[in-house]
Amino acid sequence: MNVYVGLLGCGTVGQGVVNLTQKRAGIIADMTGYRPVVKRVLVRDLAKRRDVDLNSEVFTRDADVVLADPEIQVIVETMGGIEPARTYILAALRRGKHVVTANKDLIALHGVEILETARDAGVDILFEASVGGAIPLIGPLQDNLTANEVTDLKGIINGTTNYILTQMTETGMDFAQALAEAQELGYAEANPASDVDGLDAARKLVILASIAFHAHVRLDEVRVEGIRTVTAQDVAYAKELGTVVKLVASGSDRGGKLSLSVRPTLIPQGHPLAHVSGSYNALFVRGDAAGDLMFFGRGAGSLPTASAVMGDVISLLRNMRLGVTSSRNHRLVLDKQVQMDDSEPLRHYLRMSVSDQPGVFAEIARLFAVAGISMETVLQKRVTAGTAEIVVVTHEIPVEVMNETIDRLRTSSHVQQVHCVMPVEALAE
Ligand code: NAP
Ligand code: HSE
Repeated sequence: MNVYVGLLGCGTVGQGVVNLTQKRAGIIADMTGYRPVVKRVLVRDLAKRRDVDLNSEVFTRDADVVLADPEIQVIVETMGGIEPARTYILAALRRGKHVVTANKDLIALHGVEILETARDAGVDILFEASVGGAIPLIGPLQDNLTANEVTDLKGIINGTTNYILTQMTETGMDFAQALAEAQELGYAEANPASDVDGLDAARKLVILASIAFHAHVRLDEVRVEGIRTVTAQDVAYAKELGTVVKLVASGSDRGGKLSLSVRPTLIPQGHPLAHVSGSYNALFVRGDAAGDLMFFGRGAGSLPTASAVMGDVISLLRNMRLGVTSSRNHRLVLDKQVQMDDSEPLRHYLRMSVSDQPGVFAEIARLFAVAGISMETVLQKRVTAGTAEIVVVTHEIPVEVMNETIDRLRTSSHVQQVHCVMPVEALAE
């Protein structure tokens, strides 16, 4: 029996969804009893060439043609952005259509409203593709690991910045060229600033942390730093220190005190995250019963993301066959207080330019000593006449203490500029 699908958006991910639906329709029909058929596709530009085998009359610029079609039971949203995607998804749910979305911006910011609307309408809303591309993350956190108290999440969950940092490290490519390649390969968001500035990873962390920690985490509760401050110089120093720079998303729950961040971080070469390259993503999860788990795979791109979308489509077709919906997806919010915690001790990397004069290093050492910060490694390079560049790696120090010291360094007459500050990850246990 055919089940008709309406696709909102037919770009990088949407085209992958059309192709994978057609390629796997037979096996999906065998597994679920329903053969998915893409009946209507909403786009902005009808003249654009698309790498899909669909008749031109399938495409429309009118959302109502898709949303009001009574034959369409499943909506797949791969448009991206908040509006009009939010309005279309809510309208589809209220009309009794099941929805699959790859849109992390929307789930991170309006997840509660969307999940409640789906629950009230008695339909499914599934969003595995919104985090980690092809890697199953939301399903395992919602289902397989439910018997655990999850205490830690740590990983690389943005393919674009991982591609950029990998290219800068391995080929010496400059930032702009690496970003252009990531866009060409279909990894980047429509506005790549959300990748580069860490927002895309922060939104994904909001989704993962809300599920894993059973809390309603808001975007403004995540400390976010992107990779714009990371230069070729930092990448080279990182190598000299036996590390690589990665954009790391991190969440921990210490007895109800949550700490959430997305920051460029130095990862020791011996750490498994150091070897997650290109568009690959990886996520460590620590549960009190399961122990440590690591999920790894392609975090972006057309078919990897379509794979996750189609996994959700298959899940909801199975549900349709059984006459049920996944109420699991409707319980993001439990009563749990979210407190931000900056007290966790971390090692830090700092690169600064200072006046190349006697006594300057002693003054910097004094500021560190006053704050109780012990230095693990110091590199001093002469850059130009009158200016030296100092790189310091500290022993473990709480983020709040490090930040206060950086403020003092910035106002010191000897320090010309603090260029880059990054935490340094310890080797995995
Ligand atoms: P994309 O290549 O820019 O495609 C977006 C599609 O949506 C295009 O076909 C566009 O139409 C259509 N569209 C956008 N706004 C529209 C509007 N107002 N009305 C009608 N059509 C509209 O984006 P993408 O990379 O496929 O990403 C889609 C979603 O998947 C986003 O939420 C993204 O965050 C998420 N995602 C992407 C990846 C990835 O690797 N790219 C991975 C995971 C999740 P036209 O083609 O006519 O312009
Ligand atoms: N822009 C996102 C990334 C797409 O680079 O990871 C996958 O969500």
